[in-house]
Amino acid sequence: MRNPKHTRSITGQPDTTLPRYPLDRVYACLRGSFSACLLGGVALLAATPHAHAAPPASVENGRYLARAADCEVCHTAEGGTPYAGGRAFSLPGIGVMYAPNITPDKTAGIGTWTDQQFVDAVRKGVSPHWKHLYPAMPYPAYARMSEAQVRDIRAYLATLPVSPQKTPENAIKFPFSIRGLMVFWNMLNGPAASYADDPGKPADWNRGRYLVEGPGHCADCHTPRTATFGLDGKRALGGNVVNGWRAYNLTSDKQSGLGAWSDQDLAQYLATGHADGHGTAAGDMADVVGHSLRYLSAPDIHAMVVYLRSIPPLHTAEDTVERTTPPAGDATLPQTTRGARLYASACAGCHMPDGTGRQSSFGTITGARSLGADNGRNLVQILVQGSGMQTTTGVQIMPHFAGGGLSERDLADIASFVMTHFTTATPHNMEQAVHDAKEAK
Ligand code: HEC
Ligand code: HEC
Ligand code: HEC
Repeated sequence: MRNPKHTRSITGQPDTTLPRYPLDRVYACLRGSFSACLLGGVALLAATPHAHAAPPASVENGRYLARAADCEVCHTAEGGTPYAGGRAFSLPGIGVMYAPNITPDKTAGIGTWTDQQFVDAVRKGVSPHWKHLYPAMPYPAYARMSEAQVRDIRAYLATLPVSPQKTPENAIKFPFSIRGLMVFWNMLNGPAASYADDPGKPADWNRGRYLVEGPGHCADCHTPRTATFGLDGKRALGGNVVNGWRAYNLTSDKQSGLGAWSDQDLAQYLATGHADGHGTAAGDMADVVGHSLRYLSAPDIHAMVVYLRSIPPLHTAEDTVERTTPPAGDATLPQTTRGARLYASACAGCHMPDGTGRQSSFGTITGARSLGADNGRNLVQILVQGSGMQTTTGVQIMPHFAGGGLSERDLADIASFVMTHFTTATPHNMEQAVHDAKEAK
């Protein structure tokens, strides 16, 4: 019954065992690096071993939820054994922390934990022996999952091959090294309880709310933070900068949010990472789609769309961009500026002059917010860092241009060209923006 593929029964049991907690400065830094951990996830395949016998429903449900919650991306080192941990989160000014091995190994992993200990770590951020976790692990969102659902995730993890890989020791500076401080952060910003469905709302809305706020932890990136670095409920899903990338406004505002997207486009973007007229998910969002959302059932994607539609509009200047897509099929590029000439040589092999993809539709960037929003923030990031996304047809790769023959000025000129060719944005200080993005890489 809990198999989400066959039911619209939504959230778990209402659970009031958790105190009403809602991070502080520590968190800000932790968050900053949070996505660094995800970036390397590009190389990971989501292949997980399949049991030979048909697994019990709880294991299947657990596998599904672990995907919906994107556990594997963080808990796997680049190129490493799935779930064996070791992915580094480097926290400027604070140190480095590592996501632990959560395979069933009895020494290096969590093989000796009781189910209740696992539930408490995932939903309350407290591992055995009162080890308070840092919220780089999104336990405040996972608290939306019921205990039963988290036990199913445990049941699934228990089927994984054991890995003896030891998790490296965190190297976090004093006083942030004092885990007990998280008690105070939790009091301010920590987990809320899971909740019952809202009987006044349709089943798909309830399911969507659960997926977005719970396992999906979309707000972790898309909601601005308060002074104590908790999620700012008044600006829920209003867009935020995470690790240098803009995680756009997801409210129903027509200009700066998702208000002007059709349901079909939004569903397609979430399920595949691309929708014509809106571009292709890059950076952390490429990881979210490639490792998590693309495994969700069509009814679950639909439910998320229904819920996102209901987020009250919030206008944000950073996410607003006027798009002046050149006429489709226009194969000419103005050759007047350095940027245009560089685009012709470095980019047009994959992105046609009119923005459509040469090899595949994933390269169609026409209409993407990233072409101009927030002074080209994500455009600069993608030039400096590149991006890659797992799809059913293999990994879609956008190479980075940070090394090689292109100077910071070249990249700045390309960015300026893209912004003015495809949007009405007015680029400013692009060379500085490129420089900063390279420094932070
Ligand atoms: C955004 C990255 C991220 C995601 C997503 C994530 N984790 Fe974690 N997790 C971490 C980090 C980092 C730590 C270590 C935190 C610390 O040292 O305080 C951690 C700690 C844990 C621990 C405690 C292990 C121990 O030895 O104390 C468990 C259990 C765990 N995660 C399970 C999960 C499960 C299950 C999911 C999916 C439902 C998940 N995590 C999703 C980053 C993540
Ligand atoms: C780890 C951070 C992170 C998480 C978690 C995350 N996103 Fe994103 N999201 C981003 C970033 C960064 C972008 C911008 C991607 C780009 O430039 O192509 C983005 C873009 C998007 C867009 C495109 C918006 C536009 O206007 O182009 C949608 C829709 C979206 N995210 C929905 C979601 C949903 C739904 C969830 C939860 C299931 C989610 N995201 C979770 C970081 C995140
Ligand atoms: C080898 C092919 C290739 C080349 C060369 C290439 N790109 Fe891309 N680009 C892609 C693919 C594939 C994607 C989609 C992958 C992703 O977003 O993860 C993409 C995505 C993008 C996006 C969309 C990002 C978003 O957030 O929506 C932009 C903008 C972009 N490229 C600009 C450029 C520019 C400018 C150049 C030249 C400096 C360039 N690309 C060169 C293949 C390429």
